[in-house]
Amino acid sequence: MIETVTELSRLRDIVTGWKRAGLRVALVPTMGNLHAGHYSLVKLARQHADRVVSSVFVNPTQFGPNEDFTRYPRTPEADTTGLEQAGCDVLWLPTVESMYPFGVELAANVHVPGISSLLEGAHRPGHFDGVCTVVSRLFNQVQPDVAAFGRKDYQQLAVIRQMVADLAFPIQIIGGDIVREDDGLAMSSRNQYLTADTRPKSTAIRRVLVAMRDASRSGAPRPQIEANAVARLQAEGFEVDYAVVRRPDLSEPDEHSTGERVALIAARLGTTRLIDNIEF
Ligand code: PAF
Repeated sequence: MIETVTELSRLRDIVTGWKRAGLRVALVPTMGNLHAGHYSLVKLARQHADRVVSSVFVNPTQFGPNEDFTRYPRTPEADTTGLEQAGCDVLWLPTVESMYPFGVELAANVHVPGISSLLEGAHRPGHFDGVCTVVSRLFNQVQPDVAAFGRKDYQQLAVIRQMVADLAFPIQIIGGDIVREDDGLAMSSRNQYLTADTRPKSTAIRRVLVAMRDASRSGAPRPQIEANAVARLQAEGFEVDYAVVRRPDLSEPDEHSTGERVALIAARLGTTRLIDNIEF
C-alpha cells in the first residue's frame, strides 16, 4: 500500500527507517497529473532502489507570470492510484508553505549559470531557477540515493545534472526514456490542452525531429536543417520558439565536427506549448 505523507517529520522517519535497514531510496519528482511517462520513471527508479518516493508539487516558482500555474491540471486521486500500481511506496505531498517557509519572495534561490539561460531558459526566464530551487529542496527533504527525471525535458535533466555535480549532492541522477502516444506525440500533462483541431497537427513535431536527425546524419548544414524544421512546423500551424541541433551539453556544434547530437523543438499550437527532442 502506498502511504501519502504531508508532514516532513513523517517523511524523515520513514526514510531514516529505510536507510537504517540498509535500503536504497529513489525519488521521482513530479508536478502531478501523472501519465505513462511518469509511471515509467517510477518503474525505472525501482530498478535502481529498494524503495521509491514520488513527490507531487505544482511548483509556483518555475512558472512565468503568463504561464499556466493556476490552470495546471491537478488530479490527486488518479495520481495516487497510478503511483501505487507503478510500485511507488510513498507519495510526498508538500504544501507551498512547507516548501517555501519564508514565502516564495524570500526563498533561497538555486541558479545554475550558463546552461539555464539557453533555449528553454531564454524563452522562459527564471524557469530553471525555479526547477533547481524546488529540486534541491526535494533532495534535502527526501535525501534519496537516486533520482529519476524524464529525457523529454532534456535541458532540465542537463541542468539538474550540473547542479548535482556542482553542489556535490550525493545522488545518482538517472534519465528515463521519452514515452510516446501511438502516433508519436511525446506524453505530457500539457497535451490535454490540445483541441480536436490541434491534436492531429501536434504529431508533426516528432516527424520534424526525425527529419532533422536524418538530415544531420547525411551531412546537411546545421543552419539549413534548422531553417527547414522551422518552415515545416510553421506550415503545420506552429509558432516556433526553437528548432535546433546541439551537442549533448546544448552547445552549438562547429561546422564539420562529428559526435553525439540532440535535436530539440519547442513550439506552440494555439495556447499549447510543446517540447520534444531526439538524441542521435
Ligand atoms: O519535470 C517536472 O515535472 C518538474 O519540473 C519537476 C522536476 C518536478 C520540478 O518541479
